[in-house]
Order: sequence, then structure tokens, then C-alpha cells
Amino acid sequence: MEKLGMLYQGKAKKLYETDNPDVLWVEYTDQATAGNGAKKENIAGKAHLNNQITSVVFNLLARRGIPSHFIRRISDTEQLNRHMTMFPLEIVMRNKAAGSFAERYGVEEGTALKQPVLEFFYKSDALNDPFINREDILALDLASAQDLDIIASKTREINQALTAIFKAIEVELVDFKIEMGRSSQGVILLADEITPDTCRLWSTRNRDGGITHLDKDIFRRDLGSIIPAYQTILDGLTRLDRAE
Ligand code: C5P
Repeated sequence: MEKLGMLYQGKAKKLYETDNPDVLWVEYTDQATAGNGAKKENIAGKAHLNNQITSVVFNLLARRGIPSHFIRRISDTEQLNRHMTMFPLEIVMRNKAAGSFAERYGVEEGTALKQPVLEFFYKSDALNDPFINREDILALDLASAQDLDIIASKTREINQALTAIFKAIEVELVDFKIEMGRSSQGVILLADEITPDTCRLWSTRNRDGGITHLDKDIFRRDLGSIIPAYQTILDGLTRLDRAE
């Protein structure tokens, strides 16, 4: 596999073409951003951790019958992914109120929800990734009704599997963001990454009622270094993966 020119530079990853049009070469970077790039920092070791975490998560999901764009990890900071045509959507699933949901509805973080909530945000740096509803998506032709039904049911399935995976390592999956795309064979697949950058993960070992964040909120809220928290997640997932 030959690495060719850079296709796209995201906030935490660089995507390169390869000599196979169906395969992308993805390089994770140490950059952390928050507030759509308003806060930016280089954190040594983040690329290594996220590249490994997302690789293990995609493997655990595959074993549970949930395929993704992930092909294989090729180095500490690089992996090969299937080249997809992406929906310009951030797909968010919430199990408890937190972050922008807690703010929008004026509820306390950690408030229980009667049922998990599926939300969409329109991927646009220029517009700051605004909240978007199903009707808007259909009207703007960002995805078809059939695509959205598939995306919704796959996201609920992913939520169930991920919730169980994290529970097994004493972590609560509060919410997460995923992205999906269509493969060259026309199949809608989970893509992008699943890491503590894209999930809210709270330790269930904390019994004093407080929240122990094991995710990017540590960076967003200036709560210290993310590295030990991300390492805890990687260690737990690696142990689970080896035990299966
Ligand atoms: O900020 P908000 O509460 O909407 O975030 C919901 C979930 O989506 C969180 O797990 C957050 O880490 C993730 N997210 C993300 N990328 C964004 C915005 C949110 O991964 N650009």
C-alpha cells in the first residue's frame, strides 16, 4: 500500500489517498481543539492513544456484528480506512443530559433521560456545526429518508453495543458523536473515529456522586491533562479485547 497526496486535514487527523482508490491512509495528530478550533493545543501522546483506542473499539464492534470503515492499524499513529462518501452530518446519541443538550434545555448535567436521544448537527466549520433536524436534512438533500432510517437504526445499535463495552470496563457512556458514509459498494457504514475526543465517558468507580471525566471535557473545561484518562480507557479496552 502506497501513501499518496493529502486529501484533507481535519482537526485531529490527516487523510491521504493511497494507490487503491477504496483505501484511505489516516494519520492521527496530537492536536486537540475545542469550541470549533477556538481552543487549540498540541498534546504529546494523544495521536498514539486515539489511534489505538479507535482501532480497538472498531474491532470490538465488528465482533458484535457492527462493521465500520476500519481496515487495520498500521503504526502507532496511522491506520487504513475504507474510502467513503461521507454524509455531512455529526450524528449524536445521548444517554444522559450533558454538554450542549444540558445547556440548551437548562437541565443539570447527568440528568437521566426517559429515552436515548438521537440528534444531528450539520458539519460546517463556517457555520459552527449547527443543530439540524430531519426535515432540514431532507429539504437540503443531505441524506434521503431511507438513508436517515438506516443511520438512525445503526446508531441505536451502536449505542447499545458501545454502552455494554464501556460498562464492562467500569465506564458510563453518557453521549457520543459518530459519522457515517457510503462505501463504493453503496453500503452505509460507521466511519470517522470513536475515542474519548468524541464520547463523554464517566468513570463508574466514582461513588461520591461527583463526575470523573475520562474524555475531552478534561481539555474543554481545563480540568488537567487528558493523557492519564485516555490511557485508562485504552488499558480497559485492551484488557477487554484480549479477554474475548
Ligand atoms: O457538545 P455536545 O454536548 O453537543 O456533544 C455531544 C457529543 O458529541 C459529545 O460526546 C462530544 O464529545 C461529541 N462531539 C464531537 N465533535 C463535535 C461536537 C461534539 O465529537 N464537533
